[in-house]
Amino acid sequence: MASHLVVPTDPRAPRPTYPTCRAAHPLQTMRAMQREELVRRLNEDLQLELRSVVQYVHHISTIKGSEYQQTLVELSKHVHQELDHALALAAQIDFLGGEPSTRVPEVETQDEPNLALTQDLALEEAQLDRYRERVDEARKLDLPDVALALAPLLKQTQDHVMELRTALGR
Ligand SMILES: [Fe+2]
Ligand SMILES: [Fe+2]
Repeated sequence: MASHLVVPTDPRAPRPTYPTCRAAHPLQTMRAMQREELVRRLNEDLQLELRSVVQYVHHISTIKGSEYQQTLVELSKHVHQELDHALALAAQIDFLGGEPSTRVPEVETQDEPNLALTQDLALEEAQLDRYRERVDEARKLDLPDVALALAPLLKQTQDHVMELRTALGR
């Protein structure tokens, strides 16, 4: 009958090491590169949200005229939501192992109210396109949690587009 040999272990002894150097599967490498690219694009989205905050703060304080008062109330709501968007993006970038960007793109100032609002609309439309792409990319990378975290940005950006189109009579 075989006897079970129990070797007493010394708790102070160094732990045995085993070779672990396995080359990454090409698919894993590709997936890692795609996630890196997603983080890079999310950082561009973050920079555009920071630009939104600066642009709205400038427009809210410089657009004059009683006919714009209702629009300015809407823009004041937008600016708080843009900050929330920036925070949500930074959280996802950090979660995916990236470093949230601190870069704020240059904002070209506009003196004429309709040009300022057109500038806001162009930025919101560009952001809406970007978030549609980003949600799709996150889903394709098996990151439904990231896609879900971006969903409020997608919806609120569409609301901002609609409000600005209405303000501009489009
Ligand atoms: Fe936003
Ligand atoms: Fe917005």
